[in-house]
Amino acid sequence: MISKNTIDRVFEASRVEEVLGDFVNLKKSGSNYKGLSPFSDERTPSFMVSPVKQIWKDFSSGKGGNVVAFLMEHEHFTYPEAIKYLAKKYNIEVEETEQSQEQKEQADERESMYLVSEFAAKYFKNTLLKTELGKAIGLSYFKERGFTEETIEKFQLGYCLDDWNAFTNEALSKGYKLEYLEKTGLTIVKGEKQFDRFKGRVMFPIQSMSGRVLGFGGRILTNDKKAAKYLNSPESEIYHKSKVLYGIYHAKQAISKEDNCYLVEGYTDVIQFNQAGIENVVSSSGTALTPEQIRLINRLTKNITVLFDSDAAGQRASIRGIDLILEQGMNVKVCAFPEGDDPDSFAKKNTEEEIRLYLKENSKDFLNYKASLLMEDAKNDPVKKASLIRDMVNSISKIPDNIQQEVYVQETARIMDISEEVLFSTLAQLTGGQVKKAAPQRPRSMEVVKGDAVPGTKVNEQYELEKTIISLLLLYGSIEEEFEELVVKIDDKGEMKLEPEINRAKVYEKIYLDLQEDEMKFANPNFKEVYDRIIRKFTAEGELVQESFLNEIPVETAAAITDILMEDDRYALSNWEGKEIFVRSKEDRVGQMVQETILNLRRFLVKEKVKDLSKKLPDSSSEESQEILQEIMDYDQLRKKISEKLMRAM
Ligand code: CTP
Ligand code: MN
Repeated sequence: MISKNTIDRVFEASRVEEVLGDFVNLKKSGSNYKGLSPFSDERTPSFMVSPVKQIWKDFSSGKGGNVVAFLMEHEHFTYPEAIKYLAKKYNIEVEETEQSQEQKEQADERESMYLVSEFAAKYFKNTLLKTELGKAIGLSYFKERGFTEETIEKFQLGYCLDDWNAFTNEALSKGYKLEYLEKTGLTIVKGEKQFDRFKGRVMFPIQSMSGRVLGFGGRILTNDKKAAKYLNSPESEIYHKSKVLYGIYHAKQAISKEDNCYLVEGYTDVIQFNQAGIENVVSSSGTALTPEQIRLINRLTKNITVLFDSDAAGQRASIRGIDLILEQGMNVKVCAFPEGDDPDSFAKKNTEEEIRLYLKENSKDFLNYKASLLMEDAKNDPVKKASLIRDMVNSISKIPDNIQQEVYVQETARIMDISEEVLFSTLAQLTGGQVKKAAPQRPRSMEVVKGDAVPGTKVNEQYELEKTIISLLLLYGSIEEEFEELVVKIDDKGEMKLEPEINRAKVYEKIYLDLQEDEMKFANPNFKEVYDRIIRKFTAEGELVQESFLNEIPVETAAAITDILMEDDRYALSNWEGKEIFVRSKEDRVGQMVQETILNLRRFLVKEKVKDLSKKLPDSSSEESQEILQEIMDYDQLRKKISEKLMRAM
């Protein structure tokens, strides 16, 4: 277990905007930051981060919470994994409270797989740099490829000895379990025997966006035609090929800064580009590009430039990838390298300036590229030309934005010397009659969506009222307000009368006492949990600090209330065009809101109670029904009183 002290220090040091900034391209927007949701495929930013409140809210998926909640949601970390990740980022030493042997053994399987992968990367690197064989074979190979020591260090390159199980034995002797060595694929288990999967290969660790080692690529050094040139870690609990891009950890900052991502084919292309000084480059490493990989890039930029060698196979492969990129609404350029070169070899023999110049001058819009590539063999062949045009229209049909589609249709008409009408009707055919493949649109900025996080869901009165109570507690719990109470007074003639009296009380006291008096309970379990915790906090400490409170409650519970804390910020979000939307300041009328809300909740509960009772009536005996009727009448009286009070309060 991680000590409480460590957890406190981690929360103290962590800045939500810094941590999330490593995963989402955040832009300053007033006192907040906003960006594209990393949890959906949106095009208009609805992801908000509040540095003041230290929370985030994703209005497209409804998710939200503190910094830890983000890491659990996004990186699929467990709670301790998230704390450890933050501790590492902020150089905080992790104190562990004593663990029993049993607890150690139960330690999360994924965490064990991460640890064994981390160990393997260190071990392979050490073998490469510190052992005679490593230096003679592995290191000299990398040197020959032109990699500097700095580059080798940056990418944690390594070498696995040409021995059946040197690595496995070392790992076992260090206490790593065979189970995890096998699950990560580092070790192949055959009966009693164990073999190092990457025997005799130079090693390329594959890192996640946050820098954890997920798996490996290993390149063979011999000319053995039967063995694969590259061998990769198998799919595992921690390594999902289709969701990983080689180089993303080192590229993410540069991609967002340069607002463009170069996509290459292999490990060495990525490394050589980095060494040349161009860091915004990633590779899908041998597998065909997947939508998940594109989404990783989409979080950082809208622009991808696909780089490939000039051989035909490479070009056709990249054309397939292009349609996938277009489907995600991204802009694609392509850049082919001179005959016989791939990005690796080209970068090796040119300076950074030369490479940048080449990329600038040779990056073409995908449409022009497709046209020029295919025009070669279609020149004088009308049948081929027709199929080329259809091919281009097919690509255009993948673009979600209608205006962009139209621009491309015009461009294609010009390049191919054909009428726009024909192209539009072909486009319509391809999209099944509907030219528009409409992208989800956000409401126009005048329609400010208020209330529930998911617009369009049925508004549940009770849910809204409970939520308002929580929100009043969180935002104004400790401030003192004036409340009008009806109290029993005896007048001069000795008669009892109800008279209004102004009392001062803290908002949390007023709410707590009123709810207590009527035995009102929350229906929503998350709100109930939060309510209990808030009241406990206030009664124990007299105040509540939003940020730290959020860190103390369970992650799922916190998620349910982040939109409350973000509520005002949502206006900022819908208001990005700077339209003047007048919102009455809540502070002006907190006391009134508290009373209204409680009364409304009471009225609601009474109404429900009456409904319940009425339902029972038909099935009850005459005696029972007499009682029930009496109860209904009592409640009805109460309801009237509440309504009267409400009229006064308003
Ligand atoms: N690849 C793979 N398995 C193979 C061949 C290739 O996984 N058997 C992947 C690797 O990620 C490789 C990429 O495909 O980096 C591109 O392949 P290739 O062009 O053959 O490799 P290069 O990176 O050019 O390799 P090298 O320069 O080391 O020969
Ligand atoms: Mn190569």
